[in-house]
Amino acid sequence: MITTRFLSVILFLLPSLVLAQETVTVIGTTVTQTFTAAASTTPVSAQYTNSLNFRESILNSTNTFRYEHSAGYIYWNETLATYAQSYSENCVWEHSHGPYGENLARGYPDVIESVDAWGNERSMYDFSSTDPTGFTEATGHFTQLVWQGTQATGCGWTDCNGKNGLDGIYLVCEYWPAGNVVGDDNFYFKQNVFAERSGGQSGFDELAATRGVTGGTPTSTGGITPVNTPAATSSGVSIGAPMAEVDRNGLLVTVCVTLAALLFGLGMS
Ligand SMILES: *[C@@H]1O[C@H](CO)[C@@H](O)[C@H](O)[C@H]1NC(C)=O
Ligand SMILES: *[C@@H]1O[C@H](CO)[C@@H](O)[C@H](O)[C@H]1NC(C)=O
Repeated sequence: MITTRFLSVILFLLPSLVLAQETVTVIGTTVTQTFTAAASTTPVSAQYTNSLNFRESILNSTNTFRYEHSAGYIYWNETLATYAQSYSENCVWEHSHGPYGENLARGYPDVIESVDAWGNERSMYDFSSTDPTGFTEATGHFTQLVWQGTQATGCGWTDCNGKNGLDGIYLVCEYWPAGNVVGDDNFYFKQNVFAERSGGQSGFDELAATRGVTGGTPTSTGGITPVNTPAATSSGVSIGAPMAEVDRNGLLVTVCVTLAALLFGLGMS
């Protein structure tokens, strides 16, 4: 539905861009903001406080999902990390409007649980090769996580401690090149988001998955050749309606805000 609307706008305004796939300029990025109702009183996990542990936890858990979906292991990029850290310190409850893919999480006790929350959205994704889910608010964090064309990540965190009304730890991860490239009848999702491989984690190489903690190049996990996505030439300009979910206990609330960068500020619904 969303895709149809994107496409019809592009078809109407820029027929030549649709014909030349390399120049598609529409990109969707997602933000997940998750918080606990009560501020955490337990000590902050070493997955946050120890800088090496932080990077390893991000890469190990991100690359586990990537491995399971036949995407290469990504590496750490300090430019992205600096950006993410700086943005997290504002404790601002929305997307940064930056040039990268971005996932946000809030209130999770450790890094691995945060990344798991993003990755577990895969249960709601339809991997059909002809008509996949594509971009949705409910699965956008997962599709960014396992996006084939993404090569690097960098994250930062801040214990917002009530600043701007935000309790708990605010985790910000940036991805480059950005995933969730929308348009062209989900062409980019078909090329970049793959179903879980048979065998699950079997063959996952923790050493290789965390080798990129100090930078480097992505490591192929075999099977499928990484696909490059077109460079984003436009960043977010409009904010769709927030979507909220409350878990069984009512303790955890997830709010997803979808930001669709559209040529003429069309909102998502
Ligand atoms: C790294 O990821 C693998 C697969 O998810 C997991 O079994 C392992 O415990 C993780 N290692 C660390 C140090 O978290
Ligand atoms: C890190 O990311 C930035 C921003 O995308 C890029 O310009 C730079 O080349 C990257 N550095 C490495 C070592 O990959």
